Amino acid sequence: MTIPTIYKQRRARLLTQMQQGIAIIPTAQEVLRNADTHYGYRYDSNFYYLTGFIEPEAVLVLIAGESTKTILFCREKNLEREIWDGHRFGPAAAQEQFGFDMAYPIAQLDEKLIELMGNQPALFYPLGSDAAWDQRLLKLRNAVQEKVRSGIHAPEEIRDVRALLNEMRLFKDAHELDIMRRAAVISTTAHKRAMQFTRREQFEYQVEAELLHEFCSHGARNPAYTSIVAGGANACVLHYVGNNAKLKDGDLLLIDAGCELDGYASDITRTFPINGKFSTAQKDVYEIVLAAQDAAIAAAKPKQPWDAPHTAALRVLAQGFIDLKLCRGSVDAVLESESYKKFYMHRTGHWLGMDVHDVGDYKIDNNWRALQPGMVMTVEPGCYIRPADDVPPALWNIGIRIEDDVVITAKDNEVLTDAAPKTVADIEELMRQN
Ligand code: GLY
Ligand code: MN
Ligand code: MN
Repeated sequence: MTIPTIYKQRRARLLTQMQQGIAIIPTAQEVLRNADTHYGYRYDSNFYYLTGFIEPEAVLVLIAGESTKTILFCREKNLEREIWDGHRFGPAAAQEQFGFDMAYPIAQLDEKLIELMGNQPALFYPLGSDAAWDQRLLKLRNAVQEKVRSGIHAPEEIRDVRALLNEMRLFKDAHELDIMRRAAVISTTAHKRAMQFTRREQFEYQVEAELLHEFCSHGARNPAYTSIVAGGANACVLHYVGNNAKLKDGDLLLIDAGCELDGYASDITRTFPINGKFSTAQKDVYEIVLAAQDAAIAAAKPKQPWDAPHTAALRVLAQGFIDLKLCRGSVDAVLESESYKKFYMHRTGHWLGMDVHDVGDYKIDNNWRALQPGMVMTVEPGCYIRPADDVPPALWNIGIRIEDDVVITAKDNEVLTDAAPKTVADIEELMRQN
């Protein structure tokens, strides 16, 4: 199947689910960083999922009903601007190459939308995701309303198109899984590179540079999220992104980093000793988190409820926390009282896809949904031990997380990120080779 066909088929599936009405899906805006400098441009995930089109200033319009229409609005060719900013497809070439029924200059959007919205029963768009678009579309809808005396009515129903799109995006097709496998290979290579590079007295940002080097040199120009490179106590700050401390002999280093490739995220965490050898206390905690992750991955199977991996991880962690004298009482009592939350305060995973915390409902009718083939999730238990009077001092400031990316398959699962070492023996072996 050619690439444009994949996007065409996704548009066709959305059109079928809409039944009747008009969908308006804008791509992301360029965002100023400071003065006249922009952040690196990232298209909107939903727009890209349906078009494969990466230019800013573009809007997809779909008309569903007896006869369907797919329309792209995009920037016109402009040789002067293209000298400065690079190639633009322009409507004619975009229509042809990306397989739309029609394409128009983006400058005609408002005028055409007033025409296209007329007599459509429903308007589908990402309701509430951008206040400026909400206002603009409501204004255009009012303009349609004003034509009521000519027998034209505006869409009566306004629906969030994401209800349909999120469910489509939750199930990854072969094309998406192929990209996610490639992203995983790049990210696991980056984690191995970081393990081999790390030495005491380096700064966290120097290790970050090694990760980014590996991402970029394999065509993944951006990380999927800001890399967390957290030595020692910094690992107990869940969203630590300062990455500016010196690495100390005897501490652990927690790295949560993954590249984005062709719009798809990878999300990996590894934790390893800066000097290449786990201390007894570090190893004791590490083995518990690893056992929790093994149990969680084993529970990530089709037909299992979404939270089965979390529940499996919690039981192992609770027993481990009791053994380490972090928690008291039975496993059931620790789970019931949630005393484990002092050391493990996040959940064990999330959907993964174009967005690192990807779209898709976790519950249906208030029940955890069943895992199904094609879903991709992370499995990421951890343990974060801050200094406290009732905590054995040998464990203070140990922060560990182990995170892999897992695809649910027909009978089991596929761990995309296995290539990054995670047993104590494999990590120490790789680091010995430094
Ligand atoms: N890196 C973001 C997360 O693990 O959820
Ligand atoms: Mn994650
Ligand atoms: Mn992560």
